Amino acid sequence: MEKAASPYRVHIETFGCQMNEYDTELVRSLLKAEGFTFTEDRERADVILMNTCAIREHAHHKVYGRLEVLNLGHTIAHAIESQEQGSAQKGIAVDLSEYETYDDIMPERAEGVNAWIAVMRGCDNFCTFCVVPYTRGRERSRDPHGIIREAEHLASRGYKQVTLLGQNVNSYRFEAREGARTWDFARLITAVADLPGIERVRFTSPHPKDFPPALLDAVAGHPNICKHIHLPLQAGNDRILRLMNRTYGRVDYLALVEDMRRRRSDIALTTDIICGFCGETEEEFLDTYRVMEEVGFHSAFIFKYSERKHTIAARKYPDDVPERVKSERVTRLVNLQKSISLRKNEELLGQTVTVLVEGDAKKSSAQSMGRTDGNITVVWEKNGSGSRPGDLIPMKITRVSATTLFGKEIPVSSPAR
Ligand code: 5AD
Ligand code: SF4
Repeated sequence: MEKAASPYRVHIETFGCQMNEYDTELVRSLLKAEGFTFTEDRERADVILMNTCAIREHAHHKVYGRLEVLNLGHTIAHAIESQEQGSAQKGIAVDLSEYETYDDIMPERAEGVNAWIAVMRGCDNFCTFCVVPYTRGRERSRDPHGIIREAEHLASRGYKQVTLLGQNVNSYRFEAREGARTWDFARLITAVADLPGIERVRFTSPHPKDFPPALLDAVAGHPNICKHIHLPLQAGNDRILRLMNRTYGRVDYLALVEDMRRRRSDIALTTDIICGFCGETEEEFLDTYRVMEEVGFHSAFIFKYSERKHTIAARKYPDDVPERVKSERVTRLVNLQKSISLRKNEELLGQTVTVLVEGDAKKSSAQSMGRTDGNITVVWEKNGSGSRPGDLIPMKITRVSATTLFGKEIPVSSPAR
């Protein structure tokens, strides 16, 4: 039962990835149960919560710079109360638990077409650059039955797409009871995809070191599991990959990509890259450049290496690539990726793609936007068309840029949906 409304209005700002967005939804749910109300308007808020990403130093600093009250997790209501009791502190940092899976909390989701579901929390991989194992704790998987119930509930509320989230979905494991078949991620995503009403299922992220063959079978064989795999490469040089503790080499990664494309030539691959990791030479950087050329990702997130406290790299390897060199390497990869993305998008010119309508385009409410199965944004003129968010519609691609496809709705011959 919800408590009586607290006089406090909370405004939440989220920085970071989808997992952070999901955490904000959890925090909203926790606070709502304590009687807090919410406002979109910063000026009218009594408390401003900033849900920050710690993965790169820059993001962290940006948030601290703007910090009024920083607060997360079960202890949140207490933190707000201590403010109320005259604590002189202006900002309080609280983390979500390193042990909880928050299995019994139904997140307060924003309206929309897509809903995220965290299937696991934490990570045990200890990539040497990464702070996640320290901030989010050990890897733990949620009960699949709770996840499936949540997806069913979302479908009944009209969400057409669910995205299953985990730091490394390959290691999702759950023993329902002794002797019963173990749940792995392939089994889980198949069960979610089979639920009525779920038109599209996405997931992020798998690790290239042990991508499960059964997961590729599930993606290849299930029409409503999107043909999009986010496969973080990080670097294309074996020495750097070893220093990063990624436990795969360049050849392993390329063989995995080939395997995927042999199964489904239409799989869209995207990736994450880090430039300027400790000791990275120009020649080693060029290996990354060449792997990106060879694979031809649809898009890539490209980061400068940022040393994080507590990580193995921070303790063992000097962060010795000059800032200027890191920036220059990022620019070169961004330019390369832009030309590859443009080329990939040009292949779609004149073709018909199926788009899941999300809503108004960012730039103009005279336009709508949606996404292809491969997760590419499509924008089109509304022109009085009847399509609504949540509809899956055929769209003819008439113009492209490196980031966006522009299309025309194809009138559907069957009666209006
Ligand atoms: N510096 C730069 N990029 C990082 N990432 C993780 N840690 C760091 C770091 N210390 C990137 C990786 C990861 C993505 C989520 O963020 O590429 O896949
Ligand atoms: Fe970080 Fe590596 Fe775990 Fe990803 S797999 S969260 S990069 S430690």
